[in-house]
Amino acid sequence: MQKNFEEYFPPGTEEHDLLLKVDFRRLPGHVAVIMDGNGRWAQQRGLSRAEGHNAGSASVREVVEASARLGIEFLTLYAFSRENWKRPRLEVGQLWRLLREYLGKEDRLLVENDIRLRVIGRKEGIPRPVLRELERVEEMTRTNGRMTLVVALNYGGRSEIVDAVRRILEEGRLGPGDLDEKEFAARLYTEGIPDPDLLIRTSGELRVSNFLLWQIAYTEIYVTPVLWPDFRKRHLLEAVLEYQKRDRRFGDIHAGTPRKK
Ligand code: FPP
Repeated sequence: MQKNFEEYFPPGTEEHDLLLKVDFRRLPGHVAVIMDGNGRWAQQRGLSRAEGHNAGSASVREVVEASARLGIEFLTLYAFSRENWKRPRLEVGQLWRLLREYLGKEDRLLVENDIRLRVIGRKEGIPRPVLRELERVEEMTRTNGRMTLVVALNYGGRSEIVDAVRRILEEGRLGPGDLDEKEFAARLYTEGIPDPDLLIRTSGELRVSNFLLWQIAYTEIYVTPVLWPDFRKRHLLEAVLEYQKRDRRFGDIHAGTPRKK
């Protein structure tokens, strides 16, 4: 494993220098990413938006592998929002095709790196062939334990909250006095997944765009001007180093982890 680590972040490279500064006792357990800027990246090069998304999937590949090797336990990627359906039909089709291709090609990478795939979002609406592919890879990687890759698809933070309320009403088990934050969180798509410690947004936009609204209550936010197709492992390391400088107080006056209720 150590040898792999050295091969992946070779001495003498910028990545290696950054890696030496990382405090591995204080890694973010869960990193979430709003992958933004594919369109602008393509436009700057006179390419089609589809080519921008294509280049973005190479960044996905690199960030998934780098996160697993670093020891990050959960990586959540915002790949398709409920609002993305408003884009031209051609682009929507290209995004779903790209995702299907990614799953078809990268299932091996997930298996080799002991990564589990989990999907969050509204299943209804996801094209059938993509859904089948997602279920196949979720099943294939179910027992993998090194890292969980959570892909948000047809996802909206507000819909997730509405869906949780629907579940509670449908179950009919909880009265108003029984409902607390823990019970509520257990009905979200992210049930069993800890809240993100670090949220990275690329391309410089200062918005959360309906992503993990409940879960990011105390998440550290890191915005970089780098466009997603240019985002590489060294940028991930830079984000982790910035996170490690933050003083996380969770509403308390001292830094530290939140007190268990
Ligand atoms: C935002 O860029 C990106 C998306 C809406 C899609 C993200 C998808 C990928 C990176 C490709 C594949 C994903 C996986 C998981 C394999 P934008 O189009 O909003 O860029 P712009 O704001 O510059 O127009």
